[in-house]
Amino acid sequence: MAKYNPYDNMLSVLESAANLLELEKNDYEVLKYPERTLEVSIPITMDDGSIRVFVGYRVQHSSVRGPCKGGIRYHQNVDLDEVKAMAAWMSIKCAVVDVPYGGGKGGVTVDPTMLSKKELERLTRRYTSAIMPLIGPERDIPAPDLGTTAETMGWVMDTYSTLKGHVAAGVVTGKPLEIGGSLGRLEATGRGVLFTVQEVIKKQNLKPGETSIAVQGMGNVGGMTARLLYEDGFKIVAVSDVSGGIRSEEGLNIPEILDFIGKGGFLNEYEAENIVRLNNSELLATKCDILIPAALENQLTEKNAEYVQAKIIVEAANGPTSVEADEIFKRRGILVVPDILANAGGVVVSYFEWVQNLNSARWDLDRVNDTLQSKMVESFNAVYKMAQDKNTTLRMGAYALALERLVVSLSIRGIFP
Ligand SMILES: NC(=O)c1ccc[n+]([C@@H]2O[C@H](COP(=O)([O-])OP(=O)(O)OC[C@H]3O[C@@H](n4cnc5c(N)ncnc54)[C@H](O)[C@@H]3O)[C@@H](O)[C@H]2O)c1
Repeated sequence: MAKYNPYDNMLSVLESAANLLELEKNDYEVLKYPERTLEVSIPITMDDGSIRVFVGYRVQHSSVRGPCKGGIRYHQNVDLDEVKAMAAWMSIKCAVVDVPYGGGKGGVTVDPTMLSKKELERLTRRYTSAIMPLIGPERDIPAPDLGTTAETMGWVMDTYSTLKGHVAAGVVTGKPLEIGGSLGRLEATGRGVLFTVQEVIKKQNLKPGETSIAVQGMGNVGGMTARLLYEDGFKIVAVSDVSGGIRSEEGLNIPEILDFIGKGGFLNEYEAENIVRLNNSELLATKCDILIPAALENQLTEKNAEYVQAKIIVEAANGPTSVEADEIFKRRGILVVPDILANAGGVVVSYFEWVQNLNSARWDLDRVNDTLQSKMVESFNAVYKMAQDKNTTLRMGAYALALERLVVSLSIRGIFP
């Protein structure tokens, strides 16, 4: 079997969305190619004095709607095709939520858990200096992704500012608050998922108190999503982490569970009355109204899609549903709210952070959250309408909406020279 190529997958989705919109080849040909691709070698001195050379990338897929935007991933599986595909997904995601950004992505092929903090800092600073020709507040603005954190973004910002000779907070988002990060950024993805769930239940005539939810993954996104939904009156009947899951018919005590996890606990050790233990496959097939995968990619596949009992799936993780599973859900009438819409709260608040940096301003938390809510509600309804108009899934509706916006910008700007 041919090796899965994420960039080919992106191209095939783009092609389907173009067909749905009845576009001419000329309308979107440009979007099949990343604008710029940079591969760099990153030599660093390890703590033991040896020298290792890592490979890194920065890809700018499209700047047609604004500066490129997208995270930096540190993971052992990073390769050029993955970074190219993720850069293109970012162009799509930014267009779905209508923020004035294009798409970019960066990555280093490294297992960050094998490096000391000092080694990671050296790696980050050298990588930043290597991608300097591409990044900048008006060009391309990185953010955290798998394996990188707010601290990593602080090192990127400091390296860029030092080499430029002036402070440039707007070169990255997802920074610590003390150096220009935004209030609400850490919770933004989970809060965006909450607003998405609130919209989708309105369409299905459900009420929070009558809606049961299962969440896979209790990290930054899953944990925050579960907390916010719980506070909004939803019944969270099951959650899981890497160690396994738990279920309670009456609903779980999410704040207590998050306190337990915050102290380093794993769910397979969590004790409470009336809970039943589940493994991770059982969690995905557990009885609920809404299933929220918020852990890893490729969790819902042709192997388990038939067993899913939820009526609605809201993708908080990136890429949790395989193409085959998507087809099964479509056939079974299970509504899937796609990742490029449901988890876009992170990039939306990154945009707010950048706006604050460019204006040397600070928004209060209510302004961040209220503006995020307007953006998410507006985007959800635009995607829903597109899906209805084209008689297609929300995923295809989201791609079509994004592609339509990209194509309009492309045609207005024209092709240089
Ligand atoms: N952090 C963000 O702002 C953000 C934004 C958009 C999308 N995402 C996506 O959301 C997903 C989760 O990101 P995160 O930042 O919360 O990561 P994280 O590392 O904070 O949390 C991941 C969680 O998943 C659990 N997990 C790992 N393997 C599992 C398994 N096999 N079964 C069940 N649970 C498992 C872990 O125990 C942990 O609770 C990723 O797909 C990420 O790309 C994150």
